[in-house]
Amino acid sequence: MRRSLVRALIRPLAMAATVTAIPLMSAASAGADSVVVGGFPIDVSQAPWTVALASRDRFGGTRAGQFCGAVAVGRTTVVTAAHCLSDDALGSPPNRLRDLKVIAGRTDLLSQQGDEIAVRKIRFNPAYDATTHSGDFAVLELAAPLPQGAVVAMADTGDPAYAPGTQALVSGWGDTTGAGSYPYRLHAARVRVLPDEMCARAFPGGPDGSYRAETMLCAGELAGGPDACQGDSGGPLVARGRLIGLVSWGSGCGRPGLPGVYTRVSEIVRALRPADGAPPSGRS
Ligand code: ARG
Repeated sequence: MRRSLVRALIRPLAMAATVTAIPLMSAASAGADSVVVGGFPIDVSQAPWTVALASRDRFGGTRAGQFCGAVAVGRTTVVTAAHCLSDDALGSPPNRLRDLKVIAGRTDLLSQQGDEIAVRKIRFNPAYDATTHSGDFAVLELAAPLPQGAVVAMADTGDPAYAPGTQALVSGWGDTTGAGSYPYRLHAARVRVLPDEMCARAFPGGPDGSYRAETMLCAGELAGGPDACQGDSGGPLVARGRLIGLVSWGSGCGRPGLPGVYTRVSEIVRALRPADGAPPSGRS
């Protein structure tokens, strides 16, 4: 998407007054088999839209401060999960984090590869519901542009990339075992978009959350195996070259019958689009 367009589109998103808690680490997880679990290491050039959300002040320098994933959708626009920037996840309001950055073009968090770019502005989805996890996204404006090659297009409603059965790739620096093994290297896993009925059956409303087809999608393999995991949140799920999901929540990682749940990206597109019939910008 063009930068000017993105800029025009993000205006309607209001800064949320309060953000309540979704724990960054979900409780359930025990003994999952294997990005990402059930995945494989990749080079960032294979998924250059994958950026790390980082704060060394808050999370320490050992992994460059990485604590969530995020996705480049414009040269100065990045999207991530709203819960990544909740007071609970950060231990303080996000505007108190002086060194919130995205790290782009870096495969290995121990290297100096790529760019570290400061986040200039955070806009929470005003419709984000921390209890149901519905609408789990925030739009970040960067202080300097990313390379154009890093940008991935967002899939709008009706895009065939959302069709059940579609192969998709999820990428991130999250737990690779479900037991707290955080890699330095970027990993990815191949998953499949699952039918909404299946997602709803998997998450009818338990302690981990309930599935809402309007704002979420789920992906994985029925038998379990490949999945996103803790630390991947906010990162990309890409199918047919378009962004369809942001890692949002799950129950453990890679467990049979419990697919990963993602923020449905068409909701972000919709939120960024000015309402029909809105007066041209500059007028009220
Ligand atoms: N909430 C987690 C995070 O903050 C993401 C969990 C995704 N879980 C899954 N099984 N797909 O990193």
